[in-house]
Amino acid sequence: MQSVDLNSVKSFRCPSNYFFTSVGKKLVMGISGLVWAGFVMGHMAGNMLMFISPGAYNSYGHALTSGGLIYVVETVLLTALSIHVFFAVWLTVDNRRARGSQGYALSQKGSKGASIASRTMAAQGSLILAFIIFHLITFKFGPVYETTVNGVQMRDLHRLMVEVFQQPGYFAWYVFCLVLLGVHLRHGISSIFQSLGVLNSNNQATFQKVGIVYAIVVSLGFLSQPISVFLSR
Ligand code: HEM
Repeated sequence: MQSVDLNSVKSFRCPSNYFFTSVGKKLVMGISGLVWAGFVMGHMAGNMLMFISPGAYNSYGHALTSGGLIYVVETVLLTALSIHVFFAVWLTVDNRRARGSQGYALSQKGSKGASIASRTMAAQGSLILAFIIFHLITFKFGPVYETTVNGVQMRDLHRLMVEVFQQPGYFAWYVFCLVLLGVHLRHGISSIFQSLGVLNSNNQATFQKVGIVYAIVVSLGFLSQPISVFLSR
């Protein structure tokens, strides 16, 4: 069998071929995932205005969507999501092929030590993708109620949000997906540091904690929104 010179692999610099390696694909997934990780933190923080007043929440939504910036944000998000999903499918197919050629015994051994969360990243990602599609249908393309805040006519997204989260089915689906998002973020953020090659035995625990704290803040922050609406029915 042909042997591989590891030194030549390490010093390999051709970017097009790099993305055909497992490490390259993971790096692309990590960077595109980071775009969404940043977005969800910002989206969660902005949504917290619901605890100030319906007017503050609606004005914030109106300010975001009435300028041209929203098209830039949407283009960046869609591009990052498409790249993330494309590379996720590619990696999953590669991994399945590799497992198939190495045999069941090796695959069992290989997966030893990997947590359920890390082994089910593809399934979590598929559910989160479904969540995003339903979420856009529910809110962005959902019923348009109108309201006036400080003399400005705008969409009443606060009323829509309250109507949605008061329904037990929607409430349960959001709670489930927001917990899942936390699990996905926690593992994804820790993995990006690994793909970037910055992890070593000294800082590994710290970077893992960064992933955990980030995931908890995003997940619990979002969760507080449907929970507060549902409990105040
Ligand atoms: C309690 C949780 C959430 C609430 C209350 C919420 C609320 C909303 C609302 C009201 C909009 C419509 C904004 C508009 O059209 O003006 C929106 C848009 C959006 N949400 Fe959420 N959201 C939540 C969680 C999430 C999560 C977890 C994600 C992603 C994983 C997400 C991704 C998006 C995206 C991509 C848009 C479209 C943004 C755009 O048009 O550029 N949301 N959300």
